[in-house]
Amino acid sequence: MNTFDTLFSRRSVRSYTGEPASESDLETILKAADASPIAMGKYEVMHLTVIQNRELLDKIDAAGAKFFQNPDMHPLYHAPALILVSTKKPEKNMENVAYSNAAIIVENMAIAATALNLGACHIWGAAAALSFDGELVSKLGLPEGYVPCCGLTVGKTDEVYSAREIPSDRISKNRI
Ligand SMILES: Cc1cc2nc3c(=O)[nH]c(=O)nc-3n(C[C@H](O)[C@H](O)[C@H](O)COP(=O)(O)O)c2cc1C
Repeated sequence: MNTFDTLFSRRSVRSYTGEPASESDLETILKAADASPIAMGKYEVMHLTVIQNRELLDKIDAAGAKFFQNPDMHPLYHAPALILVSTKKPEKNMENVAYSNAAIIVENMAIAATALNLGACHIWGAAAALSFDGELVSKLGLPEGYVPCCGLTVGKTDEVYSAREIPSDRISKNRI
């Protein structure tokens, strides 16, 4: 897909066949993460965790359902992988930089997943729930002082991408 086809067909995919992305596609998605712009070029304040362990995914899913107070919910959508983005705990008043870094990484990976015809969805709710669960966080192998911020579910899907109508008034704008 060319750049604009990818941008205009990207959407959140929340149904997965259960089959994981190939290793080479996963590597490409992680390369897209590494290609992200990061404030002041401080790549060392970010960390990625590729979670494919079913038991751990199910625990994060359950923590998310509890967080949303909906036991029937599956906020990871049974995806075969969650790529979790963590950040070094930001200093006071620098939280916006940490969140922006994390969001940009997730979106770069989402765009790459779209170009590879893989399903992908930004995940903040379950990542927030995870970050409040010290026992679960301890299973992630994060560097000391890093906190989970957000993530991307990724996996094969039966859904098909096609160019979408993007309403031009979706986001309010003004020009001066
Ligand atoms: C910061 C952010 C957080 C999001 N968190 C979640 C989430 O936790 N779960 C989910 O299913 N979708 C999540 N989404 C996806 C949005 O709901 C989705 O992007 C939006 O509704 C527009 O739909 P589209 O992605 O299909 O264009 C998130 C998106 C962003 C940008």
